[in-house]
Amino acid sequence: MRKKLLVGNWKMNKNVLEAKEFVLNAKEIFEFAFANELEIGIAPTYLCLETVKNNALKKLLVLSQNVHCEDKGAFTGEVSAKMLKSINVDGSIIGHSERRMYDNETSLKCNKKIKVLLDNELMPIYCVGENQQEFDDNLTKEVIGKQIQEGLKDLKEEELSRVVIAYEPIWSIGTGKNASCEIAQDVCNFIRNQVAKLSYNASLQVRILYGGSVNPNNIKNYLFQNDIDGALVGGASLQVESFSKMVHALID
Ligand code: PGA
Repeated sequence: MRKKLLVGNWKMNKNVLEAKEFVLNAKEIFEFAFANELEIGIAPTYLCLETVKNNALKKLLVLSQNVHCEDKGAFTGEVSAKMLKSINVDGSIIGHSERRMYDNETSLKCNKKIKVLLDNELMPIYCVGENQQEFDDNLTKEVIGKQIQEGLKDLKEEELSRVVIAYEPIWSIGTGKNASCEIAQDVCNFIRNQVAKLSYNASLQVRILYGGSVNPNNIKNYLFQNDIDGALVGGASLQVESFSKMVHALID
């Protein structure tokens, strides 16, 4: 059985004090989630990783929002997987559309990052998704098929099964225009079938999240879909109250 996973992507929000305040105030809701077999992850900025790690319950997955594919060297502004590992970070978001858009992150570059994370026993959350134009032109599956093929290139079955994939249609991120459950399920099913072409066994284990304007009112519908194992949430993950409402929506 694939364990459900709810991940908050804080993007460039919250300083160290605010991050600490959040995790301390969210302790009870995290405990409630863990007691009910719901896995929770938080992806703060690099600056807040240690604070979140040190102030939260052990079971909370703490993730970075990016990683560099080399271990060390002359890469100004970058952080390696080994460095993340050294402060007990659990994984990293890779290929978020904002990084693809503003930082020229390609799927092939993501492939290297995914491999280095897996080599360091860290969890990659690999984001894929089409933009509005591609959606309108009916190119969603073509775009995502390519992102999956390139991003997951040359991974062994055991490695593939440790990857989490997040389907985030770009047109739904931060817009309030969330994809319908039917669209989200259809694309997540397509993603699982793409993984099955690489390894059938891995496709049964790989967790696929939906992301894009998820909130306490719509989260439950997504999580009831066969191929959706969780959610990657931006805006609605920033306040303890809405985070808590999402957890309750999934468990109550
Ligand atoms: P959103 O962001 O929930 O604010 O739409 C999701 C994301 O970018 O991961």
